[in-house]
Amino acid sequence: MSSANEYAIVALGLRKRFGELEAVRGVSFKVRYGEVYGFLGPNGAGKSTTVGMLITLIKPTGGEAFVAGYSVVREPVEVRRRIGVVFQDPTVDRDLTAIHNMLLHARIHGVPSRIAEERAWELLEMVGLEEHAYRPLRDYSGGMIRRFEIARSLLTNPRVVFMDEPTIGLDPHARTGVWDVIRELKRRGVTVFLTTHYMDEADKLCDRLAIIDHGRIIAEGTPSQLKSKVAGDTLYVRVEDGGVARLKRLLARYGEVKDAGNGLLVLVANDAPRLLPEIISEAQREGVRILETRYTRPSLDDVFLLLTGRRLRDEGGDWRFWGRRVARRLL
Ligand SMILES: Nc1ncnc2c1ncn2[C@@H]1O[C@H](COP(=O)(O)OP(=O)(O)OP(=O)(O)O)[C@@H](O)[C@H]1O
Ligand SMILES: [Mg+2]
Repeated sequence: MSSANEYAIVALGLRKRFGELEAVRGVSFKVRYGEVYGFLGPNGAGKSTTVGMLITLIKPTGGEAFVAGYSVVREPVEVRRRIGVVFQDPTVDRDLTAIHNMLLHARIHGVPSRIAEERAWELLEMVGLEEHAYRPLRDYSGGMIRRFEIARSLLTNPRVVFMDEPTIGLDPHARTGVWDVIRELKRRGVTVFLTTHYMDEADKLCDRLAIIDHGRIIAEGTPSQLKSKVAGDTLYVRVEDGGVARLKRLLARYGEVKDAGNGLLVLVANDAPRLLPEIISEAQREGVRILETRYTRPSLDDVFLLLTGRRLRDEGGDWRFWGRRVARRLL
């Protein structure tokens, strides 16, 4: 199949059923070599199950996928030779140092030891951990563990790296550190498939992404293509009480206006940065005094809301992640 060789990943109607529940309901997409491609979706959307099928740990109940040109169903060994994986839950031996974890991984994956050591050091340096190479991983912060795992996933020199929620549960500073590493991989030409439920992460890192909900892809494209599905920017203009009616008439020339009360008018229109100065000078000309202006541009969360009627942002934080961590510690 020709497109299987041109693309790093080709998924064709992939499905996975767990008993009654169909967790993945026929997903199809293509990822080019060198792309950072994202799967953005809420808890339980089917992200990890899709990754599981692509990395040959979960057998699809329908459809097919090719990774680095090989079938995940018929040639799993060939696929595994060409990929790196960062799992959703960290998989490191915390009693071992970073360098020992690296060398252990190299041995498991058959990387010759003379190559492994040099490469391990180079990768630890790439993720800014070379000075911590001899510390046991139990002393590492969550962000350092994630950076370590990304470095380790590259030991075998894979063409495609899968990262399942690489920044889940990390604080904003640590997340930025992981993003820097992912950008560096892109510079080096590595193909990255990542899942996330953070819309800012998907927006910042991905060349293209799919929004996944209840096991289906509900939208796909570049972050700006997806955001252009949303009606436009939202402008907030506050005026003195006496000016509301006049300003409302003025704003109505540009798009749909809502009166939010207390002199605040809300306008949805395209290109707020260009529009706002124009509105201000028009208002001045008409003798309306503007007290305050602000605008927001569409986010991927707005796209999700438009498509599903729900917010992607989970207000409760990463409770599943913390729940699992606590459970693991107790068990
Ligand atoms: N081994 C399994 N057996 C039964 N159900 C499963 C299994 N693995 C996943 N599921 C269910 O399939 C659905 C999709 O799960 P999946 O882990 O793929 O979601 P996700 O998008 O990765 O979510 P999260 O953000 O929580 O990681 C969920 O309803 C989950 O409970
Ligand atoms: Mg998951």
